Amino acid sequence: MSRILTWLQVTSDQFHIWNYFWAVKPIITSQESKDEVFLFVANMHSYNQVQDWSIRQNTLNTLKLYLATWVDPDKVFIYNQADVPGHTQLMWVLTSLTHMWFMERMHAYKDKSWKMKANEISVGLFTYPILMAADILLYDATHVPTWKDQKQHVEYARDIAWKFNHMYGETFVLPEPVISEDLGIIPWIDWRKMSKSYNNYIWFLDTDDELVKKIKKIPTSAIWIEEPKNPDECNVYKIYTLLLTNEEDAKLRERYTAWWLWFWQIKEELIEKMISFISPIRKSVTEITDEQIISILANNSPKANEIANSKIKDVYEKVGFFL
Ligand code: TRP
Repeated sequence: MSRILTWLQVTSDQFHIWNYFWAVKPIITSQESKDEVFLFVANMHSYNQVQDWSIRQNTLNTLKLYLATWVDPDKVFIYNQADVPGHTQLMWVLTSLTHMWFMERMHAYKDKSWKMKANEISVGLFTYPILMAADILLYDATHVPTWKDQKQHVEYARDIAWKFNHMYGETFVLPEPVISEDLGIIPWIDWRKMSKSYNNYIWFLDTDDELVKKIKKIPTSAIWIEEPKNPDECNVYKIYTLLLTNEEDAKLRERYTAWWLWFWQIKEELIEKMISFISPIRKSVTEITDEQIISILANNSPKANEIANSKIKDVYEKVGFFL
């Protein structure tokens, strides 16, 4: 059986449909399989980027959206990273076994630190792959879904696990990175990636009116109505297809390549589909209380600690911390 480990960041509580398709939908698919799914709130990682009290509210709001979009807390084991001291305990052991030059090669650090002023780069930014390795190795995760930019970190987790096993005997499971399909950039009203700073995204809490306005604004090409159109060049299609079954998608593609496709008509259909997708979620978010979220995390904390502590005990005995 596989144990899939996944996380959520709480640097903000802005949650657009793009977040859903890349982060949540794979969890929903996995929760229906035989695999175990562990989902942790990566608040210690988020703290590296956001140092204010919003982390707490972001955790509550983001988890509400996860539950409202059908992540089932009875099937997915959801826990709070900061509830489990084992993450930092293991991190220290791994930090001591990791060579400086090795960390210096990490692309994500290099990319980020180049864009930042030298006096803004925290030590945490440099060492977070080690915390990440601890997140993974503590729970014997077999699979870690990730994107290309984080693949190197999961490989580092494998390497350091291998090194430890080699030095002290079999201790850690070597995790497998699972590279998520690249959904590409979802072009939006201005052909840029959906993002809060451009306000060009569909947020799960958008009202029906806002949805109508945003969808109507999506630019379409000025091809004659009589001519066949290429769905892959059409932003309306690219958003619409996310909400369709394969069959419905094939039909829509046919309509694009046939003549006489009116973009306004496709937009009307998309509006209807989007509203029926989003409005139940918007409603159920308001029905989930802070207390419900807090109690899920509190209930799962002992089990998370139990798993982590047994790994820490093993590690501490091997390195000579326990006599
Ligand atoms: N560093 C990852 C990111 O930037 C998040 C993360 C933290 C993570 N711990 C992890 C991912 C463990 C996979 C496994 O998005």
